[in-house]
Order: sequence, then C-alpha cells, then structure tokens
Amino acid sequence: MQKSILIIGACGQIGTELTLALRERYGNDRVVASDIREGNESLMQSGPFELLDATNYQAVENIVMHYEIEEVYLMAAMLSATAEKFPMRAWDLNMNSLFHVLNLAKDKKISKVFWPSSIAVFGPGTPKENTPLHTIMEPSTVYGISKQSGESWCSYYFKKYGVDVRSVRYPGLISWKTLPGGGTTDYAIDIYHSALSHKKYSCFLKENTKLPMMYMDDAIRATIAIMECDSDTILERSSYNLAGMSFTPAEIAKSIQKYIPSFEIEYNPDFRQDIADSWPSSINDSEAQKDWNWKSNFNLEQTTEEMLRNLGK
Ligand SMILES: NC(=O)c1ccc[n+]([C@@H]2O[C@H](COP(=O)([O-])OP(=O)(O)OC[C@H]3O[C@@H](n4cnc5c(N)ncnc54)[C@H](O)[C@@H]3O)[C@@H](O)[C@H]2O)c1
Repeated sequence: MQKSILIIGACGQIGTELTLALRERYGNDRVVASDIREGNESLMQSGPFELLDATNYQAVENIVMHYEIEEVYLMAAMLSATAEKFPMRAWDLNMNSLFHVLNLAKDKKISKVFWPSSIAVFGPGTPKENTPLHTIMEPSTVYGISKQSGESWCSYYFKKYGVDVRSVRYPGLISWKTLPGGGTTDYAIDIYHSALSHKKYSCFLKENTKLPMMYMDDAIRATIAIMECDSDTILERSSYNLAGMSFTPAEIAKSIQKYIPSFEIEYNPDFRQDIADSWPSSINDSEAQKDWNWKSNFNLEQTTEEMLRNLGK
C-alpha cells in the first residue's frame, strides 16, 4: 500500500503545487492537504482537505491518527516581510508548528518530516557570493531567526531522538499558479503580472539587488527528491543549501523586455530593501549535489519564458 502524506499549509504558494505533485505521484487519496483556509479549486477538488491550525498540537495529532499519516510536509509559516510586522505571531507559528511535528515524529506517530528553511538564515556578516552551507549566519530578521532556530532543533531531534527530518533552504521561489505569501523576493513574481497587465512595474528593491532565486518546478523536484532518498544519504540534518539562479531587478526587467519591449520598471525601495541587503547574492549547494544528486534545471531566461507564457494564457 502507498504511504499516507499530510501537507500542513497546503494552500500557500509552495504547498499548492507540492500537494498536486505528490497526489500525482502517490495517488490523490493518499495525500491529505490542510491549512487554516481553503485553497484553490484544483487543490480542493483533487483529494482530501482538512481545516487545521498548525499551532494546535491536538488538532494536528487527530488528523495524523485519523488518516494514519506517515510523512508530514510542514509548509505553514509567516514569511519574511510579514514577520517583521508581527514578530511574536511569526515566532509562535514558525516555532510551535515545528515542535508539534517533531514531537509527533519523536513519539513515533509519524516516520518522516519535511520542513523548509530559507536563505534568510544568513545575515549581513555572511559571505555574499557562493555562500557555503556552514558559515557565519547571524540573521537580522524575525523570520531568519525562526528559521535558524528551527534548523538547530531539526538537527537536535535527529541526533537526540533519531527523528528523520529533512530540510532545504529555499531561495526566493518564482511561480505562476499561486500568488506569493509576503516574502522579500515576491517582486520577482509581481513583476511578471504587472508586465502583462500594465507594461510597467514599481519595484520595492533597488535595481542592483542580486538575490538567489529558483523556479517552482525545481523547488518541488528538490523537495520530493530529498524526501525519497535513503536516510543514510542525508548527511546534513540542519538544512541543505539549494541554488537555482541569481539575478537583480534590472536583469529580470531586461529579460522581460525581450518579450515585451515597451515594459518599463522604476525603483521605489521600501523596508524590504534592508532585508534583501542582509541576504546572500548567490548560494553554493555542493553538498546537495553530492549527497542526493541535486541539480537545478531553470535559469532566468527559461523562467521568464515560462512565466509570461503561462500567465499570458
Ligand atoms: N516562497 C518562498 O519564496 C520561500 C522561500 C524560502 C522558504 N520558504 C518557506 O516555505 C514554506 C512555505 O512557504 P510559502 O511561500 O508557500 O508560504 P505561503 O505564505 O504562500 O503559504 C503558507 C500557508 O500556511 C498557511 N498557514 C498560516 N498559518 C497557519 C496555521 N496556523 N495553520 C495552518 N496553516 C497556516 C497559510 O494559510 C498559507 O496557505 C514556509 O516555511 C516558508 O518559510 C518559502
């Protein structure tokens, strides 16, 4: 029999596509989507859905027992830009939801956990280019602090209790199926929507702010790949660096102008500039390549082509 999977935070930018990909792979009925709100039609109609608050331990345990869940993908979190506005709520959601899932695994009620970290674990003192997995971190945002702490707890639960938890540090993710959820790299999605509707975009970051990014298809592939590996191949139990591409707002604008020559961009940086300035520009993911054969497929040109074609339909 196929295993049963629960996705918590399934209606968000990543959760929606991850749920659909897992349902296609393991069967619709084996993949239970959950969130505090309902999701889009394709998610709601393709398999089981439960309204679930990730901060309520008893509610999470009830769903796990009811569906005999073996693997949990914990995607619920408050993202970087929103977390700066609500620090305590972000800490409560990002940490308690993780403890609940790790404790279910510690008590052997589930057997495997995926929990995403982020490039936000890095800070202003981190080497900016080709940032290694193990380096100075010192995050300067609420979100980054919660992700760095979460990584340490994952590693602790693995070492102390043998919990099989796996994690990657996603860069900014670019997708067209679902809108982004309040992160600092959201501009790299908004820009395509605005290019198609207004041929104009006002960017909240400066033109030369280079950040690590990834097309959603690569992120979903990496997530499923790390979860399907033999446990012994996962040598890093905090979180793996994961790299796709790196570009600036000026470069993404130029790639759009190849398809929409009259597209114009202007720069009006806001509070998110400080967050972006504290993050790396490019990521070294050699451990993921070595341990579980990770390799990204999409560069900026391919991403722009995919985004404009799909959003333009
Ligand atoms: N999107 C990115 O670029 C990116 C980059 C790095 C890391 N990540 C991480 O990936 C994960 C998913 O990110 P995303 O972009 O899909 O976020 P998102 O904001 O789009 O989705 C999060 C989902 O969690 C749900 N949620 C919020 N509070 C909840 C609660 N109490 N109980 C249950 N569900 C709740 C929301 O309704 C939402 O559907 C997060 O951990 C995020 O930190 C995302």
